[in-house]
Amino acid sequence: NATTNATTTPAATTTTTATTTTEVVTSRRMSFRSATETFTNDLLNSSSTSFINRASLLKKTLEPFYRNSFSTFRSLNVVSFSSGSIINNMDLNFASSSVPNNTAIGNVLISAASNITAFNIDPTSVSVNGTQVSGGVSHKISLITASCLVLLSWLLTSQQ
Ligand SMILES: *[C@@H]1O[C@H](CO)[C@@H](O)[C@H](O)[C@H]1NC(C)=O
Ligand SMILES: *[C@@H]1O[C@H](CO)[C@@H](O)[C@H](O)[C@H]1NC(C)=O
Ligand SMILES: *[C@@H]1O[C@H](CO)[C@@H](O)[C@H](O)[C@H]1NC(C)=O
Ligand SMILES: *[C@@H]1O[C@H](CO)[C@@H](O)[C@H](O)[C@H]1NC(C)=O
Ligand SMILES: *[C@@H]1O[C@H](CO)[C@@H](O)[C@H](O)[C@H]1NC(C)=O
Repeated sequence: NATTNATTTPAATTTTTATTTTEVVTSRRMSFRSATETFTNDLLNSSSTSFINRASLLKKTLEPFYRNSFSTFRSLNVVSFSSGSIINNMDLNFASSSVPNNTAIGNVLISAASNITAFNIDPTSVSVNGTQVSGGVSHKISLITASCLVLLSWLLTSQQ
């Protein structure tokens, strides 16, 4: 009993300190294509007026959609642009305590796409952490689902 009392108290103190000090943030890389826009080489230079203006337009336009969707959303920062028409690359930061999955992150952009006129969003081009997200299901996830179905049907048939 003496040992139980001794160990319980310090453990509780440590937990409280950890949760009240600094918030740990996790970022997810998201990309999408602006199919109807023209790429210019100054978008490669993060000090150029074109880069700064476009980066701030994306941040200003997209952050409210993410803030409304996830209480743990913290910020969106444009990382780079590349040619084709314009590929937009950005990091989304979330409190590490609750990071939404890649499908959920991509779907916010896909459903916001038709409401955004400030720049073009090709809803079939959205990818998060390197996995394409389209219409609610990411390809990596649908592969896992397919594998589960195969396994399930194999289990069911093998039991007969
Ligand atoms: C555990 O703590 C309680 C409350 O402080 C005390 O009454 C009890 O005697 C303690 N138990 C032991 C075994 O020290
Ligand atoms: C990037 O843009 C800044 C501001 O316009 C300019 O001063 C700088 O020379 C550019 N750098 C390159 C490598 O073009
Ligand atoms: C992703 O998150 C959404 C929303 O929380 C949830 O409905 C969905 O089942 C999750 N998908 C996976 C594969 O975890
Ligand atoms: C898009 O706009 C419509 C009409 O204003 C609104 O009902 C809908 O909720 C908006 N969608 C998003 C994702 O904001
Ligand atoms: C991000 O992608 C890497 C490499 O494919 C993978 O190992 C990691 O689990 C992914 N993270 C998430 C949260 O999807």
